[in-house]
Amino acid sequence: MLKIAVLVSGGGTNLQALIDHIQQGKLPDVSISVVISSNPKAYALERAKLHGIEAVSFVKKDYPDKDIYAKELLALIDRYQVDLIVLAGCLIIIPENVVKKYKNRIINIHPSLIPAFCGDGYYGLRVHEAALSRGVKITGATVHFVDEGTDTGPIILQHPVPVMEDDTPETLQRRVMEEAEWKILPEAIRLISEGRVKVEDSLVKISDR
Ligand code: GRF
Repeated sequence: MLKIAVLVSGGGTNLQALIDHIQQGKLPDVSISVVISSNPKAYALERAKLHGIEAVSFVKKDYPDKDIYAKELLALIDRYQVDLIVLAGCLIIIPENVVKKYKNRIINIHPSLIPAFCGDGYYGLRVHEAALSRGVKITGATVHFVDEGTDTGPIILQHPVPVMEDDTPETLQRRVMEEAEWKILPEAIRLISEGRVKVEDSLVKISDR
C-alpha cells in the first residue's frame, strides 16, 4: 500500500480527483494518510473531512521563524510515515530539510508544460495569464518530482491541452484542470504505487508493467 500525504493550499480539486480515483478503485494500492493545508480556510480541508481523511492545517506565520517552521513541518509529516508526499494546489515552498529527507518522494502538479511558464511567481491563474499573453496554442500540465528548485525537478508525466481563441485565464485553467491535472496526477501516483517510476541521472524512466 502506498501511503501518501497530500499538501494543499486552496480549493482542492486535485485532491478531489485523487479521492475520486481511490473511491472508484482506480488506485487500489494507494491510501491518503493525511491532508495538510498551509491555509486553515482551504476548502481542500473540507473535502478531506467529508471523506474521513485526517485534515490538518499548518500555517507558517504561526511559527516564530522559518527554521522552527521547517523542523515542525518535517516532524508532522514524519509522524504519518508516508511513502510519498503529493503537492496538490500547494502554494508553499517546501523547506529544504523536507526535500532532502524525502528526495524523489515528493511530487507536484504544475498547470503548464514545464519548462514553459514555471518557476518563481508562476502559480494558479498567473500561469494561464502568461500562456495567453504569449499566445501559445498548446499548454497543459506537468507532474514532476520536487527538488531544491521551483518546478525544476525531474518530469514524470505531461499532458497537452489546446488553447482556444476566446479563452480567458479562468476558462483555460478549468480546461487544464479537467483535461490534464485531474488525470495525470492520479496516473503518476498509480505508476509510483506500481513501482514503475525511477529517476536516473535526473531523468524519469517509466517501466512497463
Ligand atoms: C491548480 O491550477 C493547480 O494546477 C495548481 O493550483 C491550482 C488549484 O489547485 N497547482 P486545487 O484546485 O487546489 O487542486
